[in-house]
Amino acid sequence: MSARKTLVAGNWKMNTTAEEALILAGEIAKTYGSSEQTEILLCPPFVWLGLVSSIITRTNIKLGGQNMYWEEKGAYTGEISPAMLKSTDCEYVILGHSERRRYFGETNDLINKKLFKAIETGLTPIVCLGESLEIRESGKTNDVISRQFEKCFDNFKDFDKVVIAYEPVWAIGTGKTATPEQAQDVHKLLRDLLSQKTDAFDKVRLLYGGSVKPGNAADLIGKDDIDGFLVGGASLKADDFCGIIEATL
Ligand code: PGA
Repeated sequence: MSARKTLVAGNWKMNTTAEEALILAGEIAKTYGSSEQTEILLCPPFVWLGLVSSIITRTNIKLGGQNMYWEEKGAYTGEISPAMLKSTDCEYVILGHSERRRYFGETNDLINKKLFKAIETGLTPIVCLGESLEIRESGKTNDVISRQFEKCFDNFKDFDKVVIAYEPVWAIGTGKTATPEQAQDVHKLLRDLLSQKTDAFDKVRLLYGGSVKPGNAADLIGKDDIDGFLVGGASLKADDFCGIIEATL
């Protein structure tokens, strides 16, 4: 058994109205608010962070942002600073999600910049990596993941303060999940890459993301280097999200 605490994170993306956010957070808090064995994290849209924070405040559930800018403050219309996330009770922030890379042009260099800023602000970054379908089919998955890892973590040392999420782009929102073996292979690669950088390689939690559901969570979490999940679609239904948590217990 690894000493790493399982983490199940719900990335709500650009979904939920205020009322839906309240209900969803309330239902999860009712079922797993006192969860100790598995750490639970909710990442609602920025505008509902305060609202969700008020629902989970006396529970063990943690709060996170889906993104952030790297400057402290200033004339950056529409952006959210790390300090703003902190002051809304966020402990985590997702960085470099494939949708940020694909639709908003985020690069590994930019993610690296955000990574340093998140750590400086006391937020735990969840750095996302993953390959496209073409890359997988051309057999270059390991090369691409290694390159993303090297660039995102360029000059970085505080590996005991980060979480890494492996999210194959072809499995996100598509209903196609990586098999537990495919996911474990990449997680093992990440563990090996970490071991070349830090003595804390065995402490870093590696999440899998991409069409995680109650029905496939148990097999995935059974793998040695899969320490939890970053869940999109299934995190929007309390029953499904709770089913995934249940599978980790
Ligand atoms: P999905 O999304 O669970 O809907 O595939 C995962 C993610 O994008 O984090």
